Amino acid sequence: MNVLARSWPSVAFRVITRRSCNCNAARFSTSSYIRKQEPIQVNGISYPRDDYTNVTPTILSKVARQLHLQPSHPIGILRSLIEAHFATFEAINTLSPIVTVHQNFDELGFAPDHPGRSLTDSYYLNRQHMLRTHTSAHEVEVFKKGTERWLLTADVYRRDEIDASHYPVFHQMEGAHVVPRSEALATFEASNAILEKKLSNANIVIMDDTKVGASNPYQDCHDPLLAEAATRNLKNSLNSLVLELFGGIANRAGAGEPLQVRWIEAFFPFTSPSYEVEVMFEGKWLELLGCGVVKQATMDRSSVPDKMGWAFGLGLERIAMVLFGIPDIRLFWSTDPRFTQQFKAGQITSFKPYSKNPPCYQDISFWLPESSSGFAQFHENDFCEIVRDVAGDLAEETALVDTFVHPKTGRKSLCYRINYRSMDRNVTTKEARDYTQQIEEAAKAKMGLEIR
Ligand code: DAH
Repeated sequence: MNVLARSWPSVAFRVITRRSCNCNAARFSTSSYIRKQEPIQVNGISYPRDDYTNVTPTILSKVARQLHLQPSHPIGILRSLIEAHFATFEAINTLSPIVTVHQNFDELGFAPDHPGRSLTDSYYLNRQHMLRTHTSAHEVEVFKKGTERWLLTADVYRRDEIDASHYPVFHQMEGAHVVPRSEALATFEASNAILEKKLSNANIVIMDDTKVGASNPYQDCHDPLLAEAATRNLKNSLNSLVLELFGGIANRAGAGEPLQVRWIEAFFPFTSPSYEVEVMFEGKWLELLGCGVVKQATMDRSSVPDKMGWAFGLGLERIAMVLFGIPDIRLFWSTDPRFTQQFKAGQITSFKPYSKNPPCYQDISFWLPESSSGFAQFHENDFCEIVRDVAGDLAEETALVDTFVHPKTGRKSLCYRINYRSMDRNVTTKEARDYTQQIEEAAKAKMGLEIR
């Protein structure tokens, strides 16, 4: 995983930088968590289990929360703000998080061995159905309906480590603008004229030394003039969104300091050319979104082969954490009125911390299973899943603090430090000890770990 994705909830599937794929080696069936072998029910639909099933009740309990639909929740406020900015775009906000593996990956051109598909990285209901890992999973169905300008906000799910900026559920907003090819040049250039004028008068520095070429090409089926106009429209549109969201903050912090935005060449299997956008915040580059010119294959699959245009996908939590000054990603899920009642629809206000509860640390040391044991190869995400399932949002961080290899047997042992802390109340040592014991038992049974 890349450095940015480690310190912030990941927005983008990086093709090479995510963990290596061990789809088969690390099969982790959580079926024994959900003791009953009945099908999984979500929103009144029944999904039979199979050897891919790895969703847990804790994860499924998030589906009903719909934070993005709450008008005075930071995620809902941010959604409305962006929707107001793209005023002519249709807002789509209520699609089910359960999609087919085909929609999430195949339809968008993800390779069969892409790491994002592995059981250690994604949540599956069964071999056919999964919790969407990104809002791009809906691109084809929306384009198919003929919608040309749209914003789609939704909860997305990825298995991950545990710390202040990673949570297995977060929110993305997908946006797209496509146009019939015959009108595309005129449409994009008209929009470019307006946006370029606005940006040239704004206090913004745009760093963009990206090049179109062999590694990030215009598509063969697009006239280069048209591809260039569409790419420039993508850049103008997103630069103006970033200005809207962060312009105020840059001015607040540095008394007239310009906002700095940086464009980076990227790769996504469903766009070309592709980019990532970062913004300078408190001296660090913050990765905001992935975007690009939609591949013709997507337009073909959507039965609109005569259209072309651009799309982007941005992560809402990391933007909300910055804009509202929210220090821990778990706070978004708090139902404590001291959190929920702080915010008002339409307003960005700074989070006021309401309690400082001390953390409670517990260490767990264990030997990894021998390869002959029949248990899957150890993967940190599987261990974190057990921690989340037992301790829920009280688990603030799970960090590897020691590794030891026995000099004679060559057996390997790991020590993880779990930091329990509640946003809302005190966690007692006894409570933490009980959780640790339950985690140890589950880790023994499900992962074959031998507690030391
Ligand atoms: N879906 C990508 C992700 O989650 C982000 C993304 C990249 C969305 C490019 C797009 C796009 O619409 O064009 O990593």
